[in-house]
Amino acid sequence: MHRTILGIEGTAWNLSAGVVTEEGVLAEATATYRPKTGGIHPREAAQHHATHIASVIRKAIESAGCTQIDGIAFSQGPGMGPCLRTVATAARALALSLDVPLIGVNHCVAHLEIGRWQCGIDDPVMLYVSGANSQVLAYRQRRRCSISKRPTPQYRGGRYRIFGETLDIGIGNALDKFARHAGFSHPGGPKIESEALAATEYIPLPYVVKGMDFSFSGLMTAAKDALTKHSLADVCFSLQETAFAMLVEVTERAVAHTEKNDVLLAGGVGANTRLREMLELMCADRGAAFHVPEKRFMGDNGTMIAYTGLLMLASGESLPIEDSVVIPDFRPDQVDVTWR
Ligand code: ATP
Ligand code: FE2
Repeated sequence: MHRTILGIEGTAWNLSAGVVTEEGVLAEATATYRPKTGGIHPREAAQHHATHIASVIRKAIESAGCTQIDGIAFSQGPGMGPCLRTVATAARALALSLDVPLIGVNHCVAHLEIGRWQCGIDDPVMLYVSGANSQVLAYRQRRRCSISKRPTPQYRGGRYRIFGETLDIGIGNALDKFARHAGFSHPGGPKIESEALAATEYIPLPYVVKGMDFSFSGLMTAAKDALTKHSLADVCFSLQETAFAMLVEVTERAVAHTEKNDVLLAGGVGANTRLREMLELMCADRGAAFHVPEKRFMGDNGTMIAYTGLLMLASGESLPIEDSVVIPDFRPDQVDVTWR
């Protein structure tokens, strides 16, 4: 049976609707909120989504040319509360009026699932680096309890475990904050990347990995201070080298621990050429394969929500309207992965 799912994403500044079937992606439409000054303002972003959500959904469905929708998937979290609520309201209304199942998707899990699908890989370690998120994830099968005398409950799936994550802010937000301080407009990541190309010297900056977790706020403060003594190019370069080395170290340790053979990159910061280069070197060293999906599937997109919704619905999961409250701090390891 071919199901057609509409997925809606709007956890932060990107509002996007995608339509997929088991066969592939039928269509995607997007509207991006761009703050006039400073960073993302959650209420302004939510207002943007409310203004554009009807036209974005209509455009996606019209370009998909489908006559039937079998389920509505939406980003249930993590993300900014006002943005999540706007998207959830539209998703509930659509599911009710079309009388089809509603599917609540974890945004981080969706990044992983679309990467697996698009890169044709089964079981990667994923480094997910975006504005608000920085995590190293990998699938873990649930263990049977060998000492329990109780009958084994029906045994389905496992979870995406978080092997390491940021202890404070996401790497993208950290780069954006530094960039704003240095006088660049939002988003700052790409500007730091191009400025770093002119560097001549590496300046030591705080390298903070605690166990399997990392932290960026001390590094950002030190980088801002370094601007008083060093050139912008050198600081941008050193900031990238230090922050990315932290991310690559934790990813490498997760690969070593899980003995998986594939590394997947996801999230907007994954556009960075230097980060890719460092991950590629690490993977080559370990004999692992490094995978980067097409750019449109790396950042936040409605297609990843639709596709994950499709997997979930096919494994029998849907969300009653009364349980469809948004979860701004929704962690990927809270999700039972019933579709694997
Ligand atoms: P979420 O955190 O909810 O996934 P987001 O909208 O913050 O959503 P993305 O769109 O995935 O995340 O990523 C945006 C971030 O990516 C911004 O912080 C931006 O500075 C950063 N970024 C984009 N291009 C580059 C680049 N070339 N180098 C470094 N950072 C980049
Ligand atoms: Fe994201």
